[in-house]
Amino acid sequence: MSRPIIIDTDPGQDDAVAILLALASPELELLGITTVAGNVPLPLTAANARKVCELAGRPDVKVFAGCARPMLRPLHTAESVHGRTGLDGPDLPDPTMPLQPQHAVDWLVDTLLAAEDGGVTLCPIGPLTNIALALIKDPAIAPKIREIVLMGGAAFEGGNTTPAAEFNIYVDPHAAHVVFTSGVPVTMVPLDCTHKALMPRAWIEELRALGTPVGRATAAMLSFYERYDQAKYGMHGGPLHDPCVIAYLLAPGLFGGKDCPVAIETASETTMGMTVVDWWGTTGHPPNARVLTDIDADGFFGLILERLSAL
Ligand code: RIB
Ligand code: CA
Repeated sequence: MSRPIIIDTDPGQDDAVAILLALASPELELLGITTVAGNVPLPLTAANARKVCELAGRPDVKVFAGCARPMLRPLHTAESVHGRTGLDGPDLPDPTMPLQPQHAVDWLVDTLLAAEDGGVTLCPIGPLTNIALALIKDPAIAPKIREIVLMGGAAFEGGNTTPAAEFNIYVDPHAAHVVFTSGVPVTMVPLDCTHKALMPRAWIEELRALGTPVGRATAAMLSFYERYDQAKYGMHGGPLHDPCVIAYLLAPGLFGGKDCPVAIETASETTMGMTVVDWWGTTGHPPNARVLTDIDADGFFGLILERLSAL
């Protein structure tokens, strides 16, 4: 029995690998992909999600466009990291598969209301605008969600967009507040984890050596994508953020962390979008998230290579 999931995404080369990993894994049933503005504006993220599905030979996947901007704040994008298209690296053809006509938020609500309790896992790997608005539009979806496994935030690592904030949470901190206070079980994959998942150059070359359209395109994406973080942090590889969410569903034993209270800064411009992780329980507040800070990077990269070799 495969696990029903929905990926909410702002592709983004790392988002693309997360989508490919999900499509390559029969343990998961991808009910649909909802797209959001983030790395690049919504028209591009909605196109990029379909480019990735067609690259995987899956034009049947339902792709929806969601929110074009955060709930309250102006959109902040990351072309410096992902390129003007958001998927720079390979030259993928424009998508021919259609975008679904329904708004992503409406489809999320309808799909979740029709599900059994705890029936669907949400996998947000971009700003949380769509997820927050779905929870606001119809709170009755909350018990239908088994858990929200999201890439975002940081515990001790500091930010990658400001000194205090990671990109996905920084772009829409108010949406993150809605999600983290929703009462839905949250598993958070922060920079503390993803900055330990640095892509070895040899691994990227193993992807290219697969000799398949997926292998070649993924190697080209990641060869473009790795340069920004390596230059910024002096890392010996680029951090592969978003596929950690899917890998956690497939192999949770690759990850480690603990349940913590997590609050989102939505007032101070100095720390806007900071995930305040109470790792030591000083607030006495009840935990509202499983915070994953450790990863078996070799196992992670081995899993991706093995699965993508089958696409
Ligand atoms: O901070 C990393 C996150 O921001 C990833 O999801 C990446 O795709 C960008 O959206
Ligand atoms: Ca992303």
